[in-house]
Amino acid sequence: MKEKQAKDSALSHTGTGAHSDDSSPVRWIVPHLNPDQLAREIGEWLHGGTLNGYHPAHLLQFASVDHNSGPQVRTIVLRGAEPFCHWVRFHTDIRSPKVEEIRHQPRVALLGYDPKLRLQIRMDAVAAIHHKDALARQAWERIPPHSRACYSSKKVPGEALKQDVVHQAPPPIHDVDDPAYNHFAVIHCAIELIDVLELDSNGHRRGTLIRADGTWCWQPVAP
Ligand SMILES: Cc1cc2nc3c(=O)[nH]c(=O)nc-3n(C[C@H](O)[C@H](O)[C@H](O)COP(=O)(O)O)c2cc1C
Repeated sequence: MKEKQAKDSALSHTGTGAHSDDSSPVRWIVPHLNPDQLAREIGEWLHGGTLNGYHPAHLLQFASVDHNSGPQVRTIVLRGAEPFCHWVRFHTDIRSPKVEEIRHQPRVALLGYDPKLRLQIRMDAVAAIHHKDALARQAWERIPPHSRACYSSKKVPGEALKQDVVHQAPPPIHDVDDPAYNHFAVIHCAIELIDVLELDSNGHRRGTLIRADGTWCWQPVAP
């Protein structure tokens, strides 16, 4: 029952009763809006992505800066979202190049788009790596055995393979003390700015939520 409610709420993901069909797009950006309420709406939308694999916020794009100062972007699965948009989290292999990139330059960006709501969410954030600490351990114990298996490879993500190697799915890991844990990391992204764009045939709407001293401020901008 609880699971059904979570699924229904994630599938509706229209915030405070806003419509989401083509004729009447969601209206989170209204005159004199309350920035905390908007942050809450976006927080709910993101949270929906952590509950339901079919929710548009389940997969986000995560961008970092590589050692040549070039952009790198890839898809990640959203694993955690704070209700007021203060942070989001995802899981990764500590050996993957993005981790070294974050160490070198923690300023990152995340991007999501909801085609039904016609809503683009761009987030500027500062990333922190959690590896073999209490937060990582808790996350590791919560993920299912088949997800733990992703961290068991002896090959480093991105490492060149022989031409004829056929990839075999590793077996599920039931033992939480398996050494694969050593490769598991949680990336915590503290959100500092959110660029919100609502597409609307009657006129697109856009603005930025900026977090200063723990409070969100709103600045409408030209779309
Ligand atoms: C649908 C999908 C979901 C993914 N989720 C994750 C994820 O949650 N964490 C992750 O590290 N990589 C994830 N990946 C793989 C990344 O996009 C990327 O290919 C990999 O992490 C290597 O990135 P890097 O070389 O930039 O570190 C996902 C890929 C796809 C297609």
